[in-house]
Amino acid sequence: MVSSGDADVSSTVLDDPVGESLRGHHAHLARRVGGTAAYLPEVATFAAVLLEPTPSDWADLAALLGPGELADLFSASVEPPADWAPVFSLEGVQMVADPRAPAGGVPVAADVVELGPADVADMLALTGVTRPGPFWSRTDELGTYWGVRENGVLVAMAGERLRPPGWTEISAVSTAPQARGRGLASALVRTAMRHVVDRGERPFLHVAAENSGAIALYERLGFEVRRRVRFHGHRTPGGTPEALVRP
Ligand SMILES: CC(C)(COP(=O)(O)OP(=O)(O)OC[C@H]1O[C@@H](n2cnc3c(N)ncnc32)[C@H](O)[C@@H]1OP(=O)(O)O)[C@@H](O)C(=O)NCCC(=O)NCCS
Repeated sequence: MVSSGDADVSSTVLDDPVGESLRGHHAHLARRVGGTAAYLPEVATFAAVLLEPTPSDWADLAALLGPGELADLFSASVEPPADWAPVFSLEGVQMVADPRAPAGGVPVAADVVELGPADVADMLALTGVTRPGPFWSRTDELGTYWGVRENGVLVAMAGERLRPPGWTEISAVSTAPQARGRGLASALVRTAMRHVVDRGERPFLHVAAENSGAIALYERLGFEVRRRVRFHGHRTPGGTPEALVRP
């Protein structure tokens, strides 16, 4: 157990952040069969099985997703049956922030605004350029998102995604190439961290292991690595042999 504001928060829920979110804060955005669950497709491709899945759990997930579909297992330490062909695999790290540790670096006076449904097209355009990780047309419904506009153009954003009990994941951290190195991402991540800590939760995030620039940025803001993860997706059995790509 680790301390978060007033409450003690267990970090074991971070071993299954997708399943813990789908069963809890994001239950209204979930599809389910048996013990398996997945987000509505426009919200996220992430799916969850129980931590020690049986063949019947895999059958439930196949029924939930349909034949030949992407089973995006995110960071789950599970291995699907042999007839679930691998689609992608990416090494990453999960990082957590101690809410008592002040975020490092010099605060930047960026004009941070809360984003809403009217900003979704701009969020999709920005993440389409920066590729911080998958972002879909209803991903913004997972939490609060913030951004910085310059001359009306959304040049930086960050927000909240997975929400296992006691924790909120900070995600979609993006700055347009022409606006980088000015502290905009730092300002936005700080804003999200403050929001999370103020409601008594702890911030965490995921980042590709090869993204050393972003990892250094997060370390300056007070995050540290909790564990190494592997993001992986597979094709459910059956269906037509169309190419599936990582979202
Ligand atoms: C990672 C990313 C979000 C960083 O955005 P950013 O707005 O440039 O980040 P910041 O400006 O806050 O910090 C980045 C650098 O600028 C420096 N910096 C911060 N404030 C500064 C300021 N006021 N003046 C000059 N430099 C500053 C930081 O020290 C940091 O230095 P570095 O070059 O050693 O890394 C951006 O590169 C990006 O969109 N990348 C692609 C998407 C991605 O990988 N997202 C993370 C997914 S987990």
